[in-house]
Amino acid sequence: MATDYAVHAEGLVKHYGRVRALDGLDLEVAEGSLLALLGPNGAGKTTAVRIFTTLLAPDSGRATVAGFDVVRDADRIKSQIGLAGQNVAIDEYLTGLENLEMIGRLYHLAGRDAKRRATELLMQFDLIDAANRIAKTYSGGMRRRLDLAASLVLLPPVLFLDEPTTGLDPRSRRQVWSMISSLVSEGSTILLTTQYLEEADELANRIAVVDAGRVIAEGTSDELKDRVGGNRIEIAVAKDADLARAAEVARRHFSSEVNVDPTQRRISAPSKNGTSQLAGLVRDFDGAGVDIVDLQLHRPSLDDVFLTLTGHQAEEEKAVAPTGRWRRRPR
Ligand SMILES: Nc1ncnc2c1ncn2[C@@H]1O[C@H](COP(=O)(O)OP(=O)(O)OP(=O)(O)O)[C@@H](O)[C@H]1O
Ligand SMILES: [Mg+2]
Repeated sequence: MATDYAVHAEGLVKHYGRVRALDGLDLEVAEGSLLALLGPNGAGKTTAVRIFTTLLAPDSGRATVAGFDVVRDADRIKSQIGLAGQNVAIDEYLTGLENLEMIGRLYHLAGRDAKRRATELLMQFDLIDAANRIAKTYSGGMRRRLDLAASLVLLPPVLFLDEPTTGLDPRSRRQVWSMISSLVSEGSTILLTTQYLEEADELANRIAVVDAGRVIAEGTSDELKDRVGGNRIEIAVAKDADLARAAEVARRHFSSEVNVDPTQRRISAPSKNGTSQLAGLVRDFDGAGVDIVDLQLHRPSLDDVFLTLTGHQAEEEKAVAPTGRWRRRPR
C-alpha cells in the first residue's frame, strides 16, 4: 500500500472474543502532523494504537506505519516508532535515570550517550530531582512523565501517545502539551489518543472522532464544529420573574427555535450574525427592563459535535474505569 501518510489504516477490524473493539476503522495521519484520536471509554483507541505499534494483529483490514505494513513488516516498524501510554511498562525497581538509560542501551546507544540522553530527558520532564529514586516511589503524574520520556529516548519519526496526560495535574499537563507541540514543530508525526476535548483542540492538526470502533467524523477542530451548525447565543437572566419576558424579546431576534431552560434561567438560540445580534439583544433587554447576568456567543464544543454525530451524549458512554470517562479537562 503506497502512501504519503505516516500512519494509514483501512477497514481495521479487531475482536476480543465476542467484543468488536474495532469495526472498520479508517485513519490517515499526514507526515509531520498531529492527529488526535478522540473518543470515550471503550471506543477502541488503545486497540488501534496496539495494532499500529505491532503489539496486536488485526482480524482484517490493513495498516501501514512509516510506509511499512504492520503485519508483514512488523520488525521494521519497531525502529520507526515510539509508544507511550496506558500499560507501557516502566521497571518499578529501577530509578528514573536507570529506566531511561536502559532503554538507550537496548537501542544500542553507547553507555555515555545513553546517560546523557537520559539526563536530558529527566531535566525536560522536571524529574531530575527524582532521578535516583526508584520508579516505585514516583507519584502517578511522575510515572506518566517518565513513561513519556521513555518513548522519546531515540526520538523516533512516528510517536504514539495513548492518553499521555490522563491523571496529570494542570501544570504537568501544560508541560506535556508544550513538549508535544515542540516535537511536532521539530518534525515528528504523532498519533495521540485522548478523552480530553480541550487537549485535541489545543494540540491536533486534525481530529478523528471515534465511537464504537469506527471513525465517525474527521477534520480540523473548526471543521467539526461547523458540522454542528455554527454559533449559538446564550443569555442568562438574573430573575426567574424576567424569564418569560426575556424569551419574548429573544423570539423577536431569532427566526429559528428559541430554547428556554428555566432551571438555569438561560435562553439560547442559533445565531447567524453573532455580534450584531448581541448588540441588538442588549438594547432590547435594556428597554424591556430585563436584567442579564450573562450573554455570550457560544461556538459549538466538541461535546456538541459528538452529540450531533452520534445522537447520544458522550457522558452517557459506559464509564467504568476510575480514570475513564469522556470529560473536559479538569481545572
Ligand atoms: N484484552 C481485552 N479483552 C477483552 N476485551 C477487551 C480487551 N481490551 C479491550 N477490550 C474491549 O474492547 C473495546 C475497546 O477497548 P479499548 O481499550 O481499545 O478502548 P479505548 O478507547 O482505549 O478506551 P479507554 O479510553 O478506556 O482507554 C472495549 O469494549 C473493551 O472493553
Ligand atoms: Mg485506551
